Amino acid sequence: MHASLKINKLRRLFVGLTAVAAAAAATSSFAQLSDDAVRARVDALMARMTLEEKAGQITQHFVFQEVPKEEERAAKEVAAGRGGSVLLLKTAADINRFQQMALKTRLGIPLLVGFDVIHGFHTVMPVPLAMAASWDPAVAQEAQAVAAREARAVGIHWTFAPNVDIGRDARWGRTVEGAGEDPTLGSAMAVAQVQGFQGPYIGAPGRVIAGPKHFAGYGASIGGRDYDEVDLSDSQLWNVYLKPFKAAVDAGAGNIMSAYMGLNGVPASGNHWLLTEVLRKSWGFKGFVVTDAGAAFDLTTHGYTRDKPEAARQALLAGVDMEMTKPFDSQVFAHLPELVSKGEVPVAKLDEAVRRVLEAKVRMGVFEKPLVDEAEAAKVLADPAHRDVARRAAERSFVLLRNEKQLLPLKGSSLKSVAVIGPLADSAVDTVGPWIFAQNDAETVTVLAGLKAKLGNKVKVDYSPGVSMPKRANKSIFPEPKPVTVDDGKEIARAVQMAKQSDVAVLVLGEAQIMSGENASRSSFDLPGRQQELLAAVMATGKPVVVLLMSARPLDLKGLAPQALMQIWYPGTQGGAAVANVLLGEVSPGGKLPFTWPRNIGQVPLHYAHLQSHFTHAMTERYWNEPNSPLYPFGFGLSYSSFEIQDLMLSQPSLKASETLKVSVKLRNTGARKADEVVQLYVRQKAGSSARPVRELKAFRRVSLDAGATQTVSFDLPASELQYWSAAVRRFVLETADFDVFVGNDATAKLAGKFQLEGEAIARP
Ligand code: NOJ
Repeated sequence: MHASLKINKLRRLFVGLTAVAAAAAATSSFAQLSDDAVRARVDALMARMTLEEKAGQITQHFVFQEVPKEEERAAKEVAAGRGGSVLLLKTAADINRFQQMALKTRLGIPLLVGFDVIHGFHTVMPVPLAMAASWDPAVAQEAQAVAAREARAVGIHWTFAPNVDIGRDARWGRTVEGAGEDPTLGSAMAVAQVQGFQGPYIGAPGRVIAGPKHFAGYGASIGGRDYDEVDLSDSQLWNVYLKPFKAAVDAGAGNIMSAYMGLNGVPASGNHWLLTEVLRKSWGFKGFVVTDAGAAFDLTTHGYTRDKPEAARQALLAGVDMEMTKPFDSQVFAHLPELVSKGEVPVAKLDEAVRRVLEAKVRMGVFEKPLVDEAEAAKVLADPAHRDVARRAAERSFVLLRNEKQLLPLKGSSLKSVAVIGPLADSAVDTVGPWIFAQNDAETVTVLAGLKAKLGNKVKVDYSPGVSMPKRANKSIFPEPKPVTVDDGKEIARAVQMAKQSDVAVLVLGEAQIMSGENASRSSFDLPGRQQELLAAVMATGKPVVVLLMSARPLDLKGLAPQALMQIWYPGTQGGAAVANVLLGEVSPGGKLPFTWPRNIGQVPLHYAHLQSHFTHAMTERYWNEPNSPLYPFGFGLSYSSFEIQDLMLSQPSLKASETLKVSVKLRNTGARKADEVVQLYVRQKAGSSARPVRELKAFRRVSLDAGATQTVSFDLPASELQYWSAAVRRFVLETADFDVFVGNDATAKLAGKFQLEGEAIARP
């Protein structure tokens, strides 16, 4: 889909305000301010500020309350006017307390309060990768609108989300936070989430500023190791990794977070080209840039700057507006007053950054309403409508990978007993996934709880964890994984007995949530602990087996093929309720993989939009032990029905650079029940000034169809969507070339057509 078309579509969605957004609007009265009004407010304030106060305004302090010393330190800084912002406070009472301290400083400028609202705040939505698997930007928008409403109610103004890093190597634990491997799907999800968080304008009631991160290239860290360096070709950078950022900026994101790692040798948080040439000058970004936590200090860790003052100077001059500091001594912007006094940093540069941060404060209404009403906040967090959104988002995110002999949906009427097995079947902490700090575990519906509630007393539900799993050992942001408790196999034997005595075994296997997220990479896609053994033992009973995989990685079941297999990700607060609705057939699964699923980890990185260099490539199985092809292609996912996609029509055989091609197909539900299909459109440019990928996703639509129904699904493909950054001429080009177009329901779509583009002549220097 064309970016602007996507944005317009999302705007329209917004106009038809959801119940949740309407409730948010009713609780506040912030109107959009004109640029002039904002500027006047900021000018008046800045005229009164000392250099120290300015440096304080652009310093953001970590307040990790689990460590009381850190809270004390942050409080001291804020009370002394050396902090313009804090992050990670999560209750209305605590935020009010910190705001009171800021109000008592000389100028009384309230704080801008940030938080990692990644996939829900109190009500936990499915993880972002799961929302991407819904291939339904509207659902991601709605989920993030709910998250924003809850966060704003407790006094949070700004989220460090969406994570729009492309993830092509699932060893990297942060793929859970993004939208997978593809820039078109990634851009659509980026736009949807920015709109969900921010609403129609920055400062809209019940909304928060969105901060797409981590600018840029973080997902390509070598070996999938978090924080490791990134060595990306310009072509990959422009055509893949920067695309979702550009889409998020075009959608009006108010903030950008600069990344930790070095991009092609220059640290992202001190990278003038990235932060100023690309982001500000070329893209016209108007918001403010914050570093990742401690990333300005890290300019020295990189071996890039000499010391803290030089790091502060480089970060600011490169284009950083605010420093996010860690609770230990990683603060560098405190050196700015001295650097300005010595003439090493122009005061105008400092002022620019301060202005951007104050503008965000004015727009967010922090001066009018620095404190929040705690009782009102509690009401918002308890709103049952939020749970409905979470359940629906989860239902739409599941990806059915196998369903032999139509085991699913389970036949409720003849079902007498179910064995629910696995270490993740009844784990609330794992069900919500990583990056969650303000949830109520007691409210989380696990798979076991969801199935029990759904099946009532009519069906016997037995449960065994089967094996143990590392648990989150403490509340630290990076919990140390507790070693897996020694499994003596007795529980496996019990689980097997249970399976033998039941009509069906539902196994919930996967990775503990602490195995994904920040600082949580894995060098294996195997099921951790003794889960593989558990699975093999239960399958050996010959009973029908459903495996639900709770993970954000393509796990390797080592050739075991259970009768039904569904990826449920980390499904959030209502995960178990959503699973029950899908397993019992109230809802048909319709999600699709947002990444290519490799046969084993040795194939990584593996993505569908690759370049093909040799004519035998497709025929030759180049690994000695495996085919090159994936286990499941990008975009793959089954439903409880079946679909046919036919009659590909193109509006014209050739198009000019200013024109839009219309592509349509007939989608028919050939099965016996209502279900969803995601129609996907891929193109291939057959010759260019640089080599072009075998195919690239350009548009998609999730469609719901009744049994037997047919619908024409049309896409607009503006020629501008066919431009790409060419390494040969080092700029974006839109070239005269032949194109193949493929439409289908995954990246191997066979239904094909052709068209020509009349663009610029291919220039090969
Ligand atoms: C470090 C992470 O990289 C970033 O994504 C997060 O927003 C900050 N910490 C704050 O928690």
